[in-house]
Amino acid sequence: MAVAPIPFVDLAAQRKRLEGRVEAAIQRVVQSGAYIMGPEVGELERQLAAHAGVRHVITCANGTQALELVLRAWGIGQGDAVFVPAFTFAATGEAPAWLGATPVFCDVEDVTFNLDPQSLEAAIDLAERQGLKPKAVIPVDLFGVPADYEAINRIAGRHGLKVLQDAAQSYGAIRAGKRAGAHADAAATSFYPAKPLGCYGDGGAMFTDDDELAAQLRSLRFHGMGGGGQYDNVRVGTTGRLDTIQAAVLLEKLAILDDEQGARQRVADGYARGLSNLAITPRVPDGVASAWAQYTLRVDDRDAIKAELAANGVPTMIYYPKALADQAAFAGAPVSPTGIEVSRRLTGEVLSLPMHPYLEEMVQARVIEEVKGALLKRAG
Ligand SMILES: Cc1ncc(COP(=O)(O)O)c(C=O)c1O
Repeated sequence: MAVAPIPFVDLAAQRKRLEGRVEAAIQRVVQSGAYIMGPEVGELERQLAAHAGVRHVITCANGTQALELVLRAWGIGQGDAVFVPAFTFAATGEAPAWLGATPVFCDVEDVTFNLDPQSLEAAIDLAERQGLKPKAVIPVDLFGVPADYEAINRIAGRHGLKVLQDAAQSYGAIRAGKRAGAHADAAATSFYPAKPLGCYGDGGAMFTDDDELAAQLRSLRFHGMGGGGQYDNVRVGTTGRLDTIQAAVLLEKLAILDDEQGARQRVADGYARGLSNLAITPRVPDGVASAWAQYTLRVDDRDAIKAELAANGVPTMIYYPKALADQAAFAGAPVSPTGIEVSRRLTGEVLSLPMHPYLEEMVQARVIEEVKGALLKRAG
């Protein structure tokens, strides 16, 4: 009997829940004509700042640009070292490289898949020996779990590094009582549609408590605009604004985000109950609420399991099949003296299951049964 296909992320279910509110919000912007920097943009920035618990949120065109603009505002470029995890999406390494700085790859922790503070320490030492100037570190909150900012901020403080939180996958998560976006000198997030808070295209935002940095970022995203307005260019900037339509979409989605994250937590709990005795399921550190951008297992014989699940109608994804340091784009970039063994091992073991707030219990039960079947076959 044919069964309905299972979506990996179900944006259609979210649209249905919002009952036309997103479409109506888009329509209002279309009719207003305020397509660039309309009132929804400022309203979204105010609401995000209140939600994340930071003084300033500056929206921009995408999450990669959010990383780039912060690094640029900090004056990072040629000869500077920026420390990044080896197990992440390309953007984390691209941002420093795009500015002419050197990304220095560090390993990640075995449990959280996030930047390993010890690997960072060793990488700082290496960068200094190579004549680079250690300037910043970009911890990534992979799959929704904020990195170990207590340890990373301490190391950064000792070495005079700026810390830029890559919260592209963690918006809404909490660590030590603070929301993602509020753990470092500045943070960047992405509103790519499949992210925990996603728009209907590309979008991003920067977060900081630093008034001066915020003013610089506002200027940089709008052609280096000065106090004299749009045609007063006091620095070299770019076209980095978030479209008003996307801001209107995000305002509707932000209103239901906390509720959605409760639903994601229930889905994660269901997977843990069903699978933790058969596979390595995610372990979230004490005091952390994950945003559950992904629910990622570690399994042996991963590719065969993925193929079997696909044949049985269960979609899965591999984030990421290659360590970023091993990608052609980053050939020759320095790697921490600790090596990146954990990152490389993870690329062969990770398998992300369908995860979204609208995953019904019955459907999840089917996913769990299929995954169990595939794992048991190999265990026995
Ligand atoms: C960890 C990480 N950093 C940065 C980005 C970049 O975001 P964007 O696609 O909006 O440029 C993404 C997502 O795509 C990401 O997953």
